[in-house]
Amino acid sequence: MPTDTTPRIQRPVRPLAEYELDVPMRSILIGTDALNKRILELGREISDHYRGRLPLLVSILKGGVVFLTDLMRAVSIPHHIDFLQLSSYAGGKESSGTVRLLSDLGTSITNRDVLLVEDIVDTGLTLSYLLKQLEIREPSSLRVCALLSKTEARKVHVQIDYLGFEIPDQFVVGYGLDFQEKYRNLPYIGVLDL
Ligand code: PRP
Repeated sequence: MPTDTTPRIQRPVRPLAEYELDVPMRSILIGTDALNKRILELGREISDHYRGRLPLLVSILKGGVVFLTDLMRAVSIPHHIDFLQLSSYAGGKESSGTVRLLSDLGTSITNRDVLLVEDIVDTGLTLSYLLKQLEIREPSSLRVCALLSKTEARKVHVQIDYLGFEIPDQFVVGYGLDFQEKYRNLPYIGVLDL
């Protein structure tokens, strides 16, 4: 058992002014410190809930990957991870309304405790589709952890078991979220001046 004290969460993040943008950033909605703090809290809640089990954390690519890599390090219990890829936005600002499974899980989820890790729930169409697809595979449990939720934009109801932040219905980028596949690298959630 390592005996070192709690490390500060530090990532190889550059000063914000060094991030190069080809569209101006209107505002920062959620900064890096607030993200870190909330993700640690979520990690504690998730660890407490699944203690004694071996949950499978499933990241929904591509947007969910940054959140997963931070969340899993805030989860203190042993767990597995896997990935799947869906697409609904086809590179633009608006949801196409059609969800496609681009790449499936590498693991069976039958009799597993599955936690879906999403960056954002917007209309809810992606998550609603995915939950239906995964329930057919008969997991022991199926829960959802989303970093962001825009309840105002919801078209179908989906239950979020662990939520980072409720946000207004604005188009946000950063921390995994893109505009035309760019800006996923930003270490904060921001609103572009489009
Ligand atoms: C985004 C996001 C969610 C989904 C949420 O994915 O990562 O999966 O949209 O939107 P909804 O609630 O309106 O369905 P996107 O299709 O843009 O793909 P990406 O993760 O590869 O960016």
